[in-house]
Amino acid sequence: MDRSDYQALDTGAVLAELGDLASAFSLVHLAECDSTNTRLLTDLPPDDGRVHVVAADVQTSGRGRRGRVWQSWPGASLTFSALWRFAPGSPVPAGLSLVAGLAVARTLEELGVEGVQLKWPNDVLVHGCKLAGILVELTPGRGRTPAAVVGIGINLQLPPDASVAYPTGVTDLATALGRAPDASRLLGLLLVQLHRLFDVYSAAGFAALRGAWQQRNAFADLPVSILGEVETLAGTCAGVDDDGALLLRTADGLRRVLSGEVSLRLA
Ligand code: BTN
Repeated sequence: MDRSDYQALDTGAVLAELGDLASAFSLVHLAECDSTNTRLLTDLPPDDGRVHVVAADVQTSGRGRRGRVWQSWPGASLTFSALWRFAPGSPVPAGLSLVAGLAVARTLEELGVEGVQLKWPNDVLVHGCKLAGILVELTPGRGRTPAAVVGIGINLQLPPDASVAYPTGVTDLATALGRAPDASRLLGLLLVQLHRLFDVYSAAGFAALRGAWQQRNAFADLPVSILGEVETLAGTCAGVDDDGALLLRTADGLRRVLSGEVSLRLA
């Protein structure tokens, strides 16, 4: 694909991919915005029963976890956010970002990508390199149950001279598939998977999806360090528990690590 004539998102094609689920979504496509997460958080759409999605061809202030920046080049990545409002009493915060990662992984597998793995809490790797990132931010929702803005960035075709810092490197779908995928189809497939898995999650919690997540755990049984704000923990990755917390086998026994401002590294 020539980067100068990349295909912008086509909302009609996304809705066609959604089929019967199209009426469950409201989809806004912007040529440019600061950050699709920020857009949804600052201009909260009405609670009309639909999942509100904002996708942008380019973000001028794309945000990642832990204050990082999600860089943008035209046609380089699919960037979108979806506002999910859950029924009161749903188990929203803890495992949600892991479920979003699983939805991305399943979508990529559906497209034929090999070597997809998940790095806790929610980076999506292909043959060890980062292909997608997820930023979940909470906002008031229904009753006491927060709503979640689920922001996803997937590398489609990075510029050859792109410099993106990541310990094991980054990759894109053009490399993984041998061709850049159609962004509209990809977004449609992703929304279907997110819808399916969030339904399971809100009805049965992360426990129902834990096995599927662990099958793709990039660091299963490997020595890792967890870099927190105040301490670094070392141990062996023993998977995740029913709440989505990371289990670390340390010299002092099994430790639970909750997502948040921590970073996981291969030791
Ligand atoms: C990370 O890897 O640290 C998370 C990256 C999340 C990037 C996506 S792109 C769409 C949405 N809008 C943002 O500003 N961030 C998320």
